[in-house]
Amino acid sequence: MRSHQTHSSSAVSFIFFLFLLFSPFSFSTSKLEPVKRNPKRKQSVSAILIFGDSTVDPGNNNYINTIFKSDFPPYGLDFKNKIPTGRFCNGRLATDFIASYLGVKENVPPYLDPNLGVNELITGVSFASAGSGYDPLTPTITNVLDIPTQLEYFKEYKRKLESKMGKERMKKHIEEALFVVSAGTNDFVISYFIVPIRRKTFTIEAYQQFVISNLKQFIQGLWKEGARKILVAGLPPIGCLPIVITLFSGEALTNRCCIDRFSAVATNYNYLLQKELGLMQMSLAGSIILYLDVYNSLYEIIHDYNKFGFEEVSSGCCGSGYLETSFLCNPKSYVCPNTSAYVFFDSIHPSEKTYFNVFKSQRRIYDSIVEL
Ligand SMILES: *[C@@H]1O[C@H](CO)[C@@H](O)[C@H](O)[C@H]1NC(C)=O
Repeated sequence: MRSHQTHSSSAVSFIFFLFLLFSPFSFSTSKLEPVKRNPKRKQSVSAILIFGDSTVDPGNNNYINTIFKSDFPPYGLDFKNKIPTGRFCNGRLATDFIASYLGVKENVPPYLDPNLGVNELITGVSFASAGSGYDPLTPTITNVLDIPTQLEYFKEYKRKLESKMGKERMKKHIEEALFVVSAGTNDFVISYFIVPIRRKTFTIEAYQQFVISNLKQFIQGLWKEGARKILVAGLPPIGCLPIVITLFSGEALTNRCCIDRFSAVATNYNYLLQKELGLMQMSLAGSIILYLDVYNSLYEIIHDYNKFGFEEVSSGCCGSGYLETSFLCNPKSYVCPNTSAYVFFDSIHPSEKTYFNVFKSQRRIYDSIVEL
């Protein structure tokens, strides 16, 4: 028995060795080196400006009165100096990887950080707030920054830039900045399915339209304020989030498969979203509005997790992995020994390695928006 085990594990390490040798995607997992764009390519962007929810919030919630925070361990476990910045992740977010890739900055700070230097402001910040959503109800449930408030902070941000560089330069700076918008999961998961307030008055089709109409208003608002290059993330396969499996599968302890009917809600929404983004780009003069396909890249990772070097996909690294997020994932929680074996860090949020893979899958999109 013992010798058999030794035997098979050396076979496994041999195969792993071959994989490392031949895999074009091999990279050190402890340090996810940011891929850089070829610097010979002609332009980049002037700044990166980010709006949305926890998928892109680097810590704005640290500065507001909400229980949806993550500025304590084990969050930040793999971040530089293990700092729990307020990112809902063990490390960096996809938007941090995008910023490095474009050569703008290494990590995108939260706008509400009172200690931001002028240079940090100029090269870009995130206005996003964990727990937020396009549906105005969602941020009232979680008591976080709603999307119109994020837009108000952006206007304040512009005034700050104007005082540093003057109106004309500020306007050009904003025109050449990359805007990234990522939210929607909390609208469907919290406000529609978990709390079910919206389920009483909206069919799922009507709710999808409602969420998109709110998003559309927001994009129009950004455009009026001078935004021109805008990336909008679609929804992830929400039926594969560990918390959704736990709450809705009915057999959450024995069979932790993705729930297809939930992911189908995301697929339909993403289809409508892409159509709407195309229409918006045509109606908002000078705009480039592109869709970020989070769904397919995450779906591929989840369904082929071994190929990407993961071992666990249906529960998060923190706590039991079934339910814990935010204050339920805290310094007292169990933490898995190897974060890079987990697709999810907590029951909702991807691990840094997952964000890195999602970022990498969309490089073509960043290249095209930068060059247009
Ligand atoms: C952590 O897990 C990854 C993915 O399975 C693996 O490649 C790596 O060797 C593990 N690291 C340690 C220290 O066990």
